[in-house]
Amino acid sequence: MQGDGHECRGFNTRAAHILGSDKTPYGATNAPLYLSSGFSAESADELAERFAGRRPGYIYSRISNPGVSTFEQQFASLEEGRGAIACSSGMAAISAVILTLCRTGDRVVAGSSLFGGTLMLFDFLLQRMGVDVEYIDPSETQNFARAADGAALCFVESIGNPKLDVVDVGALAEICSTAGTPLVVDSTLATPYAAPGRRLGAHLTVHSTTKFAAGTGNSVGGLVVDTGLFDWKKCRDPEVSESAGRFGSELGFLALARRQVTRNTGNGMAPFDAFLQCTGLQTLGLRMERHCANAQALARFLERHELVESVNYPGLQSSPWHDIATKQFGEACGALLTLRLGSSTRALRFIDALDLAINTANLGDVRTMVIHPASTIYRDLSEQSRRSAGVTDDLVRVSVGIEHIDDLIHDFDCALKNGETDDTTT
Ligand SMILES: Cc1ncc(COP(=O)(O)O)c(C=O)c1O
Repeated sequence: MQGDGHECRGFNTRAAHILGSDKTPYGATNAPLYLSSGFSAESADELAERFAGRRPGYIYSRISNPGVSTFEQQFASLEEGRGAIACSSGMAAISAVILTLCRTGDRVVAGSSLFGGTLMLFDFLLQRMGVDVEYIDPSETQNFARAADGAALCFVESIGNPKLDVVDVGALAEICSTAGTPLVVDSTLATPYAAPGRRLGAHLTVHSTTKFAAGTGNSVGGLVVDTGLFDWKKCRDPEVSESAGRFGSELGFLALARRQVTRNTGNGMAPFDAFLQCTGLQTLGLRMERHCANAQALARFLERHELVESVNYPGLQSSPWHDIATKQFGEACGALLTLRLGSSTRALRFIDALDLAINTANLGDVRTMVIHPASTIYRDLSEQSRRSAGVTDDLVRVSVGIEHIDDLIHDFDCALKNGETDDTTT
């Protein structure tokens, strides 16, 4: 974490060694797994003090749990943040931020190219709660200057899923800081490996840790990280600023979120999921290196393929977001790419013709995964939302895994050719 004295160590070293055996009971070299709903206290007074927040200590696993805390500290450290709250999913993490910072009558400013689940949360649930959402093209950074003023929060994805547009987080953070509005960045696709949230300039980051953090698709989870760059004493929401006055600006947001949202909604992470995700996180850097290198090589191959209409990947020179992507993330431009194949029929046939790549709604797994967003994740959204998110009927989203690149190229080449053969025979 920020100030843990290990900032000078490399990413992979910190990921692997955060659980120093000096910090764990019995010198265990792995994260603790306490499958206990409640935690006893030595006296009635001690438990009352824990409830009042005057003494540290675990109470009940719906609120927090030692293994879950380990995951929170481990992830916050990689984000170079102040602390984190782990949630039952990425959507739960986004909901936790909204429930902490918004109330009826508030306005949220959001990038228009968001993950479909987030758009549905904003379009249906937030509107029902009486919270207005104003969408803005995140590449038009200056438009946020007018909108951020008076808003409860601004929300963007550092790399948009599936548009793969890259937001200039530093420029946006400057605008939001001037307006006194927290900037919340969903950095699921970038991960702390591409850029720790604090270095990006975000005030809060959210992650679906179901994806690259877990890495092998064995659990669902999410996380909110406070990077320490926003002064919560100045937050427009009176309860957040009051919490910052009570617990200090560094703990103001996290304390309120834990006390009012995690505790009262029960949307925290389960201990077993935290154990799996702690294990995954230790190899995040290694996997991301391979994910990104494979994505770059596959994107280059597909860009030259005669049966592909177009390829979108921030690491390609042809991407409109190439410059900002390389400025923010260096060579780690992520594992997602999309391709357009000219028609919905060709897109579906191509997916069916793949042998190695798996047709599924997940991403960020060591195995390559594909999906046709228009008929799945975006099927319940309006035409306008789909267009803003870059979802066309012929689009295929690819989450590039860590397989041998030659096998991936062979699989994609064969599927393109086989899908084409099918198309011409009907
Ligand atoms: C960018 C982004 N944010 C949030 C989510 C939601 O995460 P989860 O499925 O863990 O709820 C996803 C899921 O794909 C995502 O891609």
